[in-house]
Amino acid sequence: MIDEVKKHLKAVEAFSSKEAEAIESFRVSYAGKKGILNELFAAFRTVPNEEKKAYGQELNALKSAVHEKVQSLQGQLYSKSKQQKIQDPTRTPFPIQTGNRHPLSVVKNRIIDIFSQIGFTISEGPEIEDDWHNFTALNLPAHHPARDMQDTFFIQTNPDILLRTHTSSVQVRHMEKNQPPIRTISPGRVFRNEAISARSHCIFHQIEGLYIAKEVSFADLKQTLQYFTTALFGNSKIRLRPSYFPFTEPSAEVDIYWGLETETDFRITKGTGWLEIMGCGMVDPNVLENCGIDPERYSGYAFGMGIERIAMLLYQISDIRLFFENDIRFLNQFKATL
Ligand code: DAH
Repeated sequence: MIDEVKKHLKAVEAFSSKEAEAIESFRVSYAGKKGILNELFAAFRTVPNEEKKAYGQELNALKSAVHEKVQSLQGQLYSKSKQQKIQDPTRTPFPIQTGNRHPLSVVKNRIIDIFSQIGFTISEGPEIEDDWHNFTALNLPAHHPARDMQDTFFIQTNPDILLRTHTSSVQVRHMEKNQPPIRTISPGRVFRNEAISARSHCIFHQIEGLYIAKEVSFADLKQTLQYFTTALFGNSKIRLRPSYFPFTEPSAEVDIYWGLETETDFRITKGTGWLEIMGCGMVDPNVLENCGIDPERYSGYAFGMGIERIAMLLYQISDIRLFFENDIRFLNQFKATL
């Protein structure tokens, strides 16, 4: 009997496999319910008394040999499968450098999203404009002093052709081609002959909004702006300050309440807690008429904002030039945004 146990012990010690299935069937054949160990333990009764002690010892040795063998083979199997994972040949060998949207596009898209949810469509116009669409139709005839508000790049050989100074030119084009109801926003690049500094650039971006229908009121304008600022900045208080634009009457400047908690708040709001974010007003009847819309039947509002300014507020960027330098260290910081 003892010899049989010893034979098994040798067989167990000699056993080796790298296959999970073979290891499992080895385990079952020895340690399973109907396995060899149980069989040998059951045979204990039949062993003569003087051999019982030695038999018992051999049997226990066999039992531990079986457990140790199973454990060590399974352990190897596990660490091998872990290694295999690390050496997965299908894995990309280095992290992929993915690109991301420019922060100005991110902000522009967010603004577009917010207005498309309330039915605004997108319209675009040319960056090289004529005097009519950029100025005259907008109630800024030749020699109007308000033209000075927007330092203009003219084409030297033809003073009628210029780089648009604002996206308001697109509302003129849109009204000329469409009859009310009109509900559109126009994002685009604009140009002004200004010295480049941390706060201003000669190239920047604006979004223009225009709504023309029957009986549109200033209250509608305020409501829309409140909806917009809440969607973009979170729960925000706004105020409308009387202002002047030749193409709107009355005109207003929109401020949002930024807060006065930190030193930065104090600095960027000049100690008032309020920040100017756009211009707006009721479209001047002259402008409607210039664009072929009957001001007796229709009224409307318009607004215009600088995308850089909004982005600088949203992301706390202190220098407008960063948007145009394309420094990868700056651009990479917007990876997480859409
Ligand atoms: N065009 C103006 C600018 O560039 C912004 C603006 C103000 C647009 C009032 C509007 C508006 O449509 O109603 O400064």
